[in-house]
Amino acid sequence: MRGIMKRMKKGLFITFEGPDGSGKTTVSTSVVERLQKEGYQVKYTREPGGSNIAEEIRNIILDPKNTEMDARCEALLYAAARRQHLVEKVLPALNAGITVISDRFVDSSLAYQGYGRNIGMEEIYSINMFAIEGKLPDKTIYLDVDAQTGLERINANRTTLDRLDAESEAFHNRVYEGYEKVVEKYKDRMVIIDASRPVEEVINDAYLTLKGLLDD
Ligand code: TMP
Repeated sequence: MRGIMKRMKKGLFITFEGPDGSGKTTVSTSVVERLQKEGYQVKYTREPGGSNIAEEIRNIILDPKNTEMDARCEALLYAAARRQHLVEKVLPALNAGITVISDRFVDSSLAYQGYGRNIGMEEIYSINMFAIEGKLPDKTIYLDVDAQTGLERINANRTTLDRLDAESEAFHNRVYEGYEKVVEKYKDRMVIIDASRPVEEVINDAYLTLKGLLDD
């Protein structure tokens, strides 16, 4: 029962962002689990994916066999998956007063496709605005880890690499630079957490940040 009576803001849209190997998925799922146990009404979801159609698009995007995929096709597929996930999962939950915590959202496209693929942030922003009709997150927790550390973690922990993980170190460096620009541009909604530290410390910081937002 403890926590069920907690006063909380309704329907906050919060995203986790960070380069590959930042620990984003471990951190976001642990924090959501902890908050749910305490009685907070929060829903975890992830991108690309989060709904049947979007998960099918995810499989196409990340399949290592799809080496011929064009960068703009990739960007459009991410935006298409985002649209479906937003309409099918995120907006209904927000409208029902449930806080949604999404592992990645539009900032990933700005960093990976805008900078990583060199398409440009403006172009990526505009196709995404078509997809999300202006629905940006209320807050974004950015797990800051440099590309080198991130890649070392991926190589140490994962048995299979998806098409994006397997990209060159130069690509991952550009993604990191892209994130730095995105974080600067949207600094009002960003909370930056140093994710080069042990994961338990990162989880604790993210937990305190989210609790603060929910209790506010
Ligand atoms: P994940 O590893 O967080 O599940 O994400 C899968 C990959 O997709 C990861 O390498 C980041 C990449 N990605 C993009 O390139 N653009 C996007 O818009 C999103 C959501 C993810």
